[in-house]
Amino acid sequence: MKYTLAFDVYGTLINTSAVLTSLEKLIGKDAAKPFMDTWRDKQLEYSFRRGLMDKYTDFSICTDNALSYACKKFAIDLSCEQKEALLNEYKVLPVFDDVANGLEELKNAGHRLFAFSNGSKEAVTKLLTTATIIHYFEAVISVENVEMFKPSPIVYDYFLETANAKKEESWLISSNNFDVIGSKMFGMHSAWVQRTPDAIMDPWGIEPTTVIHKLTDLAKNL
Ligand code: 2OP
Repeated sequence: MKYTLAFDVYGTLINTSAVLTSLEKLIGKDAAKPFMDTWRDKQLEYSFRRGLMDKYTDFSICTDNALSYACKKFAIDLSCEQKEALLNEYKVLPVFDDVANGLEELKNAGHRLFAFSNGSKEAVTKLLTTATIIHYFEAVISVENVEMFKPSPIVYDYFLETANAKKEESWLISSNNFDVIGSKMFGMHSAWVQRTPDAIMDPWGIEPTTVIHKLTDLAKNL
């Protein structure tokens, strides 16, 4: 079976924790990890809230606002230049080590590969081009065209329409629980990329179709 594969980007293909080194230099080793976790959690929370409020904005605004929130929470006064440097780093984050080989194997097996993200098409294209993996994808599909965020069913429906694919022949591949559960409840297959052993799937009774720890495990689990 040749499937249509929708790859989540931030946290699945791209390692958002790569900003930790810069944060450690800026705010010290002790504060860096909790600060980074707050930044990521708030970035996603802001996308969820904007989806519920029907007040869409570019995902980069959620990222920017979340960074400002983390500065307030940790009482850290970063200069505009320091914030700008962190936000620019977020635009060129590295891929996980397993990604290129995993995508290569899946493409060679004849599956259709798409990048599918809350991020704008421009931002994701830049990320994946910088990471030299853009050539694996048939297209970059962003939620921006429907002005809604994951895990709304609107975005998964838009993906299928844009990719001209059927639910039962499509997979969402993500390290993000909300994405895995959202796509599964929508009716797609879902692969949870459990990037860290302490990552927990939400106890909703909605299980991923398969659980993998790196993309090179995916081909044999489809
Ligand atoms: C995405 O790339 C935010 O990881 C999420 O859509």
